[in-house]
Amino acid sequence: MTAPARLAAAALAALCAAPAAFAQSGPIKVGLMLPYTGTYAALGNMIENGFKLYVQEQGGKLGGREIEYFKVDDESDPSKATDNVNKLIKRDQVDVLVGTVHSGVALGMAKAAKENNTLLIVPNAGADAITGPMCGPNIVRSSFSNWQPGYSTGVVAAQKGYKRAMTITWNYAAGAETVKGFTEAFEKGGGKVIKDLNLPFPNVEFQALLTEIAAQKPDVVFAFFAGGGAVKFVKDYDAAGLRKTIPLFGSGFLTDGTLEAQGAAAQGLQTTLHYADSLDTPRNNAFRKSFALTYKQNADVYAVQGYDAAQILGAGLAAVKGDLSKRDALTAAMRKVTVDSPRGKFTLSKAGNPVQDMYLREAKGVNNEFRSVAVKGLADPARGCRL
Ligand code: PHB
Repeated sequence: MTAPARLAAAALAALCAAPAAFAQSGPIKVGLMLPYTGTYAALGNMIENGFKLYVQEQGGKLGGREIEYFKVDDESDPSKATDNVNKLIKRDQVDVLVGTVHSGVALGMAKAAKENNTLLIVPNAGADAITGPMCGPNIVRSSFSNWQPGYSTGVVAAQKGYKRAMTITWNYAAGAETVKGFTEAFEKGGGKVIKDLNLPFPNVEFQALLTEIAAQKPDVVFAFFAGGGAVKFVKDYDAAGLRKTIPLFGSGFLTDGTLEAQGAAAQGLQTTLHYADSLDTPRNNAFRKSFALTYKQNADVYAVQGYDAAQILGAGLAAVKGDLSKRDALTAAMRKVTVDSPRGKFTLSKAGNPVQDMYLREAKGVNNEFRSVAVKGLADPARGCRL
């Protein structure tokens, strides 16, 4: 090669290398796809705040790189999920997707993440399929599968000696799968679910269903509702006079982030979940203090899940020193992490779902207080996941 040709070749090589080098030194693009309107709006905000708090505590960087945020309001509307997630994947070209709350929307996100091989961290939505048949190396969850809180509540309800249960929920993936988990454990423990009631998401016209519960007189009612819908349901159950005669159980979303709005109607309600506000550990106390100081608001389970989503991403990025081109090492490190969560330390299953303690809690004032460990180290069965 002549000298000028060598120079030209070197210049060309440098040019070609430049985008890659630049891509590994600029900010990491995080796409937050969450509900900022509708019945789950508060949940989306708490997840975002939790995520950002962890990043802020790390000096605004993960794996040595700044974080840049892109946001889409998914409205908890599954029919818009594909369009919304493509705004982040195709238009904004994010490096990692974080979302969402609603199981139906999250299923659309997981499909797009798989098709485009985009990293996805699910900070709430429990859709069993995401860490079941749809599982993949690029998908992890910092929250729970719908089966987990349903199952642990079923364990507790059976232990308390209830025999005949009715369930009530919204008829979409989260409701149906949570009820399925509850039924599995409750019937294994000797109980029987005599009737499942449901209504379309996000409707809150509960009256006819409450009348049916009053007529059937089960020993216990199991409910899955969350956000604004949970506030209304708990108030309506109380106003109908049912709380004194038929105990109300639920997965902890029934009373999480909602106690201020539910007031007296929620006091004393027992639920199970992978978090309790009053967990008296240095990690939880420090987290709650930091969250309250930053946002002038008390943390809840959604804030914890957002915070832990950032911790999982941080662990992956630290392992590759922020170099996203080392994809296999990055996803392997995200899977291998032991998350030092405010909920207690947890690991991820092969399918990418938290293996975690489930707590029995009781609503007192504005806190879900820890009562006992309902199920220790509960792992989702990950039915259908082949990895
Ligand atoms: C869900 O749709 O998976 C879902 C929504 C809200 C919750 C829990 C699960 O609080």
